Amino acid sequence: VIWNEVVFSLAKDLEKVVMPIFGKPKAGETVGTNVSGDVTKYVDKVAEEMVLERLKILGINVVSEEVGTIDVGSEYTAVVDPIDGSYNFAAGIPIFAFSFALFRRRKPVYAALYEFTTGNYYEAIPGNGAFMNGRPIKVQQVPASRAAISFYTRGRGVGLISRVKRVRVLGAIAVELAYLARGTLQGVVDIRNYVRPTDVAAGVMLVREAGGLVVDDSGKDIDVHLSAEEKMNLIAVSDQELLRIILEEV
Ligand code: IPD
Ligand code: CA
Ligand code: CA
Repeated sequence: VIWNEVVFSLAKDLEKVVMPIFGKPKAGETVGTNVSGDVTKYVDKVAEEMVLERLKILGINVVSEEVGTIDVGSEYTAVVDPIDGSYNFAAGIPIFAFSFALFRRRKPVYAALYEFTTGNYYEAIPGNGAFMNGRPIKVQQVPASRAAISFYTRGRGVGLISRVKRVRVLGAIAVELAYLARGTLQGVVDIRNYVRPTDVAAGVMLVREAGGLVVDDSGKDIDVHLSAEEKMNLIAVSDQELLRIILEEV
C-alpha cells in the first residue's frame, strides 16, 4: 500500500462529503455518545462512516474516535479522527482537520493531517521527517517570552500564561500540533486529562519528526496507545527551555 496516496485521496473525498455542511446547524446535531463518553455530532457520524468504509477495504485494524476499536487481526492499525475540531466545524470556525496515524504493531509508520479549509496536507514519516505539501517542516525555537502556545487547562498551571507572549486555543488539537510542527506555535499544552490518542496520534508523530518534544505532565516521553478511550495529559514543545518553564508551572 502506498500510504500517502491512499490517505490523501481519502482526505480529498472526505472533504467533498463534509464541506457542504460546514457551519450548518445540522452538522452539530447530537446523534449519540462515543466510546469515550463524548457526544457524537452529525458531522462526526457522516465523516466516520465514510472513513471506516474506505479503511475496511485495506484490511487493517482501525481505532476511530466515535466507534472505538475494530480489530481485524492485521499487524497494521490506523488511529484516526475523521474530524478533529467538530465544534469548530459545526459553528463555522474554519479550524478542523482529518487526522490519520498508522502503526505497525505499536511502531509509528506514517501520519497525515489534512486541513480542509487551507488545503494543507501534513505528513510525518518516522525517521525521515515531517512535511507540509511535500516540503520539509521544522519546529521553531524562540525564547519563552516570545513563544506562542496553545493551552488547555481547567485552572491548573494558569501562571504559565504570563510567561509566554501569546496564548491561542484553537479548538482542534490535531491542527495545533501541526502548527507546532511547522513553527507557527511553539507549544501545545493540554493538562485537563481529557485528550485521547485519536486526537493526537498524528500530531505527536508530526511534532517529533519536526524536531519537537512530546511529554506528559511529569516530563516523561509520551507513548501513544492504540486506544480511543484513554485520557491523557500532553505537553508538546519546540525545545527543552520552553519545556522547563512549562513543567515549572504545571
Ligand atoms: C476535540 C478537539 C479539541 C480538544 C478536545 C477534543 P473533537 O476533538 O481536539 O481541541 O480540546 O479534547 O475532544 O471532539 O473535535 O474531535
Ligand atoms: Ca478529536
Ligand atoms: Ca472528532
